[in-house]
Amino acid sequence: ALERTLSIIKPDAVAKNVVGEIYTRFEKAGLKVVAAKMKHLSKQEAEGFYAVHRERPFFAALVEFMISGPVMIQALQGDNAVLKNRELMGATNPKDAAPGTIRADFADSIDANAVHGSDSLENAAIEIAYFFPATDVYAR
Ligand code: CMP
Repeated sequence: ALERTLSIIKPDAVAKNVVGEIYTRFEKAGLKVVAAKMKHLSKQEAEGFYAVHRERPFFAALVEFMISGPVMIQALQGDNAVLKNRELMGATNPKDAAPGTIRADFADSIDANAVHGSDSLENAAIEIAYFFPATDVYAR
Protein backbone atom coordinates (compact mmCIF):
# COMPACT_ATOMS: atom_id res chain seq x y z
CA ALA A 1 0.00 0.00 0.00
CA LEU A 2 1.10 3.58 -0.55
CA GLU A 3 2.47 4.88 2.77
CA ARG A 4 4.38 7.78 4.28
CA THR A 5 7.07 7.53 6.92
CA LEU A 6 9.16 10.01 8.89
CA SER A 7 12.93 9.91 8.44
CA ILE A 8 15.59 11.87 10.32
CA ILE A 9 19.22 12.04 9.22
CA LYS A 10 20.88 12.48 12.62
CA PRO A 11 23.67 14.95 13.60
CA ASP A 12 26.44 12.39 13.02
CA ALA A 13 25.45 11.75 9.41
CA VAL A 14 24.84 15.44 8.67
CA ALA A 15 28.34 16.17 10.06
CA LYS A 16 29.78 13.42 7.82
CA ASN A 17 28.23 15.18 4.78
CA VAL A 18 26.32 12.10 3.59
CA VAL A 19 22.81 13.64 3.31
CA GLY A 20 22.93 13.26 -0.48
CA GLU A 21 24.16 9.67 -0.36
CA ILE A 22 21.32 8.77 2.01
CA TYR A 23 18.74 10.56 -0.17
CA THR A 24 20.04 8.59 -3.16
CA ARG A 25 19.30 5.34 -1.30
CA PHE A 26 15.73 6.49 -0.64
CA GLU A 27 15.26 7.44 -4.29
CA LYS A 28 16.78 4.25 -5.71
CA ALA A 29 14.39 2.25 -3.47
CA GLY A 30 11.38 4.14 -4.89
CA LEU A 31 10.81 6.40 -1.88
CA LYS A 32 9.98 10.01 -2.74
CA VAL A 33 10.83 12.96 -0.50
CA VAL A 34 7.45 14.71 -0.01
CA ALA A 35 8.54 17.12 2.78
CA ALA A 36 11.98 18.12 4.08
CA LYS A 37 13.77 20.59 6.32
CA MET A 38 17.08 21.00 8.12
CA LYS A 39 16.69 21.94 11.78
CA HIS A 40 18.76 22.23 14.94
CA LEU A 41 16.28 20.78 17.42
CA SER A 42 15.73 22.38 20.82
CA LYS A 43 15.87 20.16 23.89
CA GLN A 44 12.08 20.43 24.20
CA GLU A 45 11.56 19.38 20.57
CA ALA A 46 13.85 16.35 20.92
CA GLU A 47 12.28 15.30 24.23
CA GLY A 48 8.81 15.62 22.74
CA PHE A 49 9.72 13.64 19.64
CA TYR A 50 11.18 10.78 21.68
CA ALA A 51 8.57 10.97 24.48
CA VAL A 52 7.82 7.22 24.17
CA HIS A 53 11.41 6.57 25.34
CA ARG A 54 11.20 8.96 28.33
CA GLU A 55 11.62 6.17 30.92
CA ARG A 56 14.41 4.35 29.09
CA PRO A 57 17.96 4.54 30.55
CA PHE A 58 19.33 5.95 27.28
CA PHE A 59 16.79 8.82 27.03
CA ALA A 60 19.02 11.65 28.31
CA ALA A 61 21.95 10.63 26.11
CA LEU A 62 19.64 10.26 23.13
CA VAL A 63 18.26 13.78 23.57
CA GLU A 64 21.74 15.28 24.08
CA PHE A 65 22.97 13.60 20.93
CA MET A 66 19.95 14.67 18.86
CA ILE A 67 20.53 18.34 19.81
CA SER A 68 24.32 18.21 19.24
CA GLY A 69 23.95 19.57 15.70
CA PRO A 70 21.44 20.09 12.91
CA VAL A 71 19.40 17.17 11.58
CA MET A 72 17.73 16.65 8.19
CA ILE A 73 14.06 15.72 8.57
CA GLN A 74 11.97 14.28 5.74
CA ALA A 75 8.68 12.56 5.03
CA LEU A 76 9.10 9.71 2.54
CA GLN A 77 6.28 8.36 0.39
CA GLY A 78 6.13 5.09 -1.49
CA ASP A 79 4.80 1.56 -1.61
CA ASN A 80 5.29 -0.07 1.82
CA ALA A 81 7.34 3.00 2.87
CA VAL A 82 7.54 2.26 6.62
CA LEU A 83 9.09 -1.20 6.26
CA LYS A 84 11.11 -0.25 3.16
CA ASN A 85 12.79 2.59 5.05
CA ARG A 86 13.54 0.31 8.00
CA GLU A 87 15.14 -2.20 5.65
CA LEU A 88 17.27 0.54 4.08
CA MET A 89 18.36 1.72 7.57
CA GLY A 90 19.32 -1.68 8.98
CA ALA A 91 19.37 -2.67 12.66
CA THR A 92 19.34 0.06 15.35
CA ASN A 93 22.79 -1.02 16.52
CA PRO A 94 25.19 -0.66 13.57
CA LYS A 95 27.09 -3.71 14.89
CA ASP A 96 23.98 -5.76 13.98
CA ALA A 97 23.15 -3.94 10.75
CA ALA A 98 23.30 -5.96 7.52
CA PRO A 99 26.00 -5.05 4.98
CA GLY A 100 24.87 -2.38 2.54
CA THR A 101 22.38 -0.76 4.92
CA ILE A 102 22.64 2.92 5.87
CA ARG A 103 23.65 2.14 9.44
CA ALA A 104 26.25 -0.46 8.42
CA ASP A 105 27.82 2.05 6.04
CA PHE A 106 27.52 5.36 7.96
CA ALA A 107 26.78 4.74 11.69
CA ASP A 108 29.35 4.53 14.49
CA SER A 109 27.35 3.41 17.54
CA ILE A 110 23.83 2.69 18.79
CA ASP A 111 23.58 6.38 19.77
CA ALA A 112 25.25 7.89 16.72
CA ASN A 113 23.35 5.61 14.35
CA ALA A 114 22.91 7.99 11.39
CA VAL A 115 19.15 7.77 10.86
CA HIS A 116 15.77 7.45 12.52
CA GLY A 117 12.73 5.93 10.84
CA SER A 118 9.16 5.47 12.05
CA ASP A 119 8.54 1.94 13.36
CA SER A 120 4.84 1.69 12.38
CA LEU A 121 2.30 3.34 10.11
CA GLU A 122 0.52 4.72 13.17
CA ASN A 123 3.70 6.31 14.56
CA ALA A 124 4.63 7.57 11.09
CA ALA A 125 1.49 9.74 10.99
CA ILE A 126 2.21 11.08 14.49
CA GLU A 127 5.89 11.76 13.71
CA ILE A 128 5.22 13.46 10.35
CA ALA A 129 2.61 15.72 12.00
CA TYR A 130 5.13 16.54 14.77
CA PHE A 131 7.43 18.25 12.27
CA PHE A 132 5.30 19.13 9.24
CA PRO A 133 1.92 20.86 8.97
CA ALA A 134 -0.21 19.04 6.37
CA THR A 135 0.24 21.97 3.97
CA ASP A 136 4.03 21.33 3.91
CA VAL A 137 3.68 17.71 2.75
CA TYR A 138 3.53 17.47 -1.05
CA ALA A 139 1.78 14.40 -2.44
CA ARG A 140 3.48 13.36 -5.66
P1 CMP B 1 15.94 5.68 16.90
O1 CMP B 1 15.36 4.85 15.82
O2 CMP B 1 16.15 7.13 16.60
O3 CMP B 1 15.01 5.55 18.21
C1 CMP B 1 15.52 5.76 19.50
C2 CMP B 1 17.02 5.82 19.55
O4 CMP B 1 17.60 5.58 20.81
C3 CMP B 1 17.59 4.73 18.67
O5 CMP B 1 17.36 5.05 17.30
C4 CMP B 1 19.04 4.72 19.12
O6 CMP B 1 19.84 5.67 18.43
C5 CMP B 1 18.96 5.18 20.58
N1 CMP B 1 19.32 4.13 21.53
C6 CMP B 1 20.36 4.16 22.39
N2 CMP B 1 20.41 3.04 23.12
C7 CMP B 1 19.39 2.25 22.71
C8 CMP B 1 18.93 0.95 23.07
N3 CMP B 1 19.52 0.22 24.03
N4 CMP B 1 17.83 0.45 22.42
C9 CMP B 1 17.21 1.17 21.47
N5 CMP B 1 17.61 2.41 21.08
C10 CMP B 1 18.70 2.95 21.70
